[in-house]
Order: sequence, then C-alpha cells, then structure tokens
Amino acid sequence: QPFTVGVLVGSLRKDSVNLKLANVLASLGHGMMFDFIPIADLPLYNPDLDGPDAPVAWGQFRARIRAVDAVLFVTPEYNRSIPGGLKNALDVGSRPMGRSVWNGKPAAIATASPGGIGGFGANHVLRQSLVFLNMPAMQQPEAYIGGAFDLLDAEGRLVKRETKSFLESFMRHFEIWIVRNVSDDLRVRA
Ligand code: FNR
Repeated sequence: QPFTVGVLVGSLRKDSVNLKLANVLASLGHGMMFDFIPIADLPLYNPDLDGPDAPVAWGQFRARIRAVDAVLFVTPEYNRSIPGGLKNALDVGSRPMGRSVWNGKPAAIATASPGGIGGFGANHVLRQSLVFLNMPAMQQPEAYIGGAFDLLDAEGRLVKRETKSFLESFMRHFEIWIVRNVSDDLRVRA
C-alpha cells in the first residue's frame, strides 16, 4: 500500500511559486499519494479556545494530519524564518499537550525563493521545531531552491531538465526516508 504524504505549503498566495513547486514534487513522487492540507483558515492558536469547543477548523486539520504517514513542507522564507501561518499550523497540530498529531511522522522540507539563498533560513528554523515535535526530517538531499521564479513557466511546469532530475531524486530519497522512519503503530492503513 502506498504511503500518504500530507503536503503543507507555507505560502497562502494564489500564484505562489512554492505551491507550484509542491505540485511538481507531488507529480514526481511516483508511488506515493499526496494530500494538500490547507493552513490558511486556521484561527491563531490560543490555548484558551482549545478543548471540547475548539474551533472546528483545528479539529479538521488535526484529523487530516493524523491520517497521513509523512509530511512534506514546501515553504517560502519570511524575514529569514517561516511564515507565521505555517508556524501557527505547527502549533495547532502540537496541542492539546501529549496529543500532538506530528509525533513520529517522517518529514521532508523544500524551501523556495526568488532570491539566491533559497530559503535556507526558513528551512533550518523549521527543522528546529521538527526536532521538538519528534518528526524525523530528511537531512539529504537538501532543497534550498533559489532563483525560483526562473525555474517554472506560466503553467507551473519546470523549464530545466536538471531541476526535474534533482526534484525527482529528492522525492525518491524521501520515500526511502519514510520507509526507514515510519512507525508501524502510526502507519495509517485504509
Ligand atoms: C519575503 N521574501 C523573502 N525572501 C527571502 O528569500 N528571504 C526572506 O527573508 C524574505 N522575507 C519576506 C518577508 C515577507 C513578509 C514576504 C511577503 C516576502 C520574498 C519571498 O521569497 C517571495 O515573496 C516569494 O515569492 C514567496 O514565495 P511564494 O509566495 O511565491 O511561494
């Protein structure tokens, strides 16, 4: 049975280059299934609102994360960190205490930017939270995708063959990473 990978895109922009890249990555992840899980409408995490009457959107989000075997993060860098919306999603999924939906799920991170540093700052800030959330995050290959606006055409297709082979290899390694790190108790079986 193929793995199901939850995809979280850190940008909320309709024309987001990270969203386009996430679509490309999903198309190259042969043999895996992908669930793009939206983060845009999650109310800001507030412990006072959590519990039986928590916002419905939090419950739906947690259920969708619980149902996947692994998580692929594709995000821009905002001010050398991750966008607030993505951090909020991590916070929502991490609570109530002791019931984090992230626990043990293998992860991979790709960051993309029109700039030259390829979202390195965001990539590593995100890794810091994943350490605490107990998500084994693939270390190699790394994906700091710089000059991202020049890699895709208007329809979101890759323009260079080298990018395609790199992203394909990234997804192949991610599948191996999931095989090695997925826990049998957490593996979701349909
Ligand atoms: C940015 N951008 C940006 N780029 C970068 O490489 N490092 C950074 O620290 C920042 N900081 C930053 C802050 C804020 C608030 C915004 C809105 C933008 C530029 C960013 O990379 C660019 O807008 C990308 O297009 C964002 O990715 P999406 O939305 O195309 O996926």
